[in-house]
Amino acid sequence: MVTPRENGRDPRLAVEVAGIRFHNPVLTASGCCGYGLEFEPLFDLSRIGGICTKGLSAKPMQGNPPARIQETPAGMLNAIGLQNIGARAFIEQKLPRLREYDVRVLTNVFGYTIDDYVEAIHILNDGDGIDGYELNISCPNVKEGGLIIGNDPRAAAEVTEAVKRVAKRPVIVKLSPNISDVAGMARAIESAGADALSLINTLVGVSIDIRTRRPRIANVTGGLSGPAIRPVAVRMVMQAAAAVQIPLIGIGGIATAEDAVEFLIAGAAAVQIGTASFYDPLATVKAVEGLSAYLDETGTESIRTLTGSLDLSPPPRGH
Ligand SMILES: Cc1cc2nc3c(=O)[nH]c(=O)nc-3n(C[C@H](O)[C@H](O)[C@H](O)COP(=O)(O)O)c2cc1C
Repeated sequence: MVTPRENGRDPRLAVEVAGIRFHNPVLTASGCCGYGLEFEPLFDLSRIGGICTKGLSAKPMQGNPPARIQETPAGMLNAIGLQNIGARAFIEQKLPRLREYDVRVLTNVFGYTIDDYVEAIHILNDGDGIDGYELNISCPNVKEGGLIIGNDPRAAAEVTEAVKRVAKRPVIVKLSPNISDVAGMARAIESAGADALSLINTLVGVSIDIRTRRPRIANVTGGLSGPAIRPVAVRMVMQAAAAVQIPLIGIGGIATAEDAVEFLIAGAAAVQIGTASFYDPLATVKAVEGLSAYLDETGTESIRTLTGSLDLSPPPRGH
């Protein structure tokens, strides 16, 4: 069977999440593609569904001292420390160029107080060419003694509500995996007005050099990402899908189209690829091509029909 194409694109891959229309469900994950333009020399950015930027704050930030990255089995630890050029510089220096591509742009936003998020969103509201906001809530709230916002449903709902009051664009809230009640957290954020959820962010980890007996990451702890976390992420997508009506974006260890399909079946409407881009910068475009091939092979009509199609009935006898 020949894949149908319109303007070089496979219309069967189109999805809508939070009212945003993506021509395919494959996005870059925050922090793994800079501001998108870093990939410009490697492939035509219009070939992927969307770009999710590095986390932006109202003011620029320097990030943590090195070492900030450590390879681990089937993954890596990072403690970049949310280094970024600031929301205003993003609008002035990066957005005009991103607008030249037919690709949706999500700006990832973080803060250490609710006011920080609101301030960043106020600035980004002026950015022509931004399609939506993704809130990174895996940050400590300095006004609440460093409590991680994304670990507390009440704090997560408060940030969501405050941002929704000022945001001129859809708001996607990114779940931390460092929680036990996924359904409760997802429902609290949905009730606070989020347009979609993305999940998951990194798991907290430590790696120790046994010769020096020192942590390998200067920050001591780092965020674990890559294929090592994929089953955790698929499980959380499945649990969130059962708990809420709003759409989900699956993230965590996705490297291929097959990995992406697993998340779609578990309940995601779209996916983001992060760590895989470090060792294969073409991972996102290859996944887009692979999704068309999967539809061909399996005779599936469109990618949308996969979302939440997980079969939890008992396996047939003899298995
Ligand atoms: C180097 C690096 C930087 C990251 N920076 C951010 C960030 O700024 N904001 C955010 O929400 N997530 C950030 N993440 C988390 C990723 O977006 C993603 O949720 C996580 O890595 C899991 O996906 P993956 O296994 O495909 O990398 C970062 C991850 C890495 C590896």
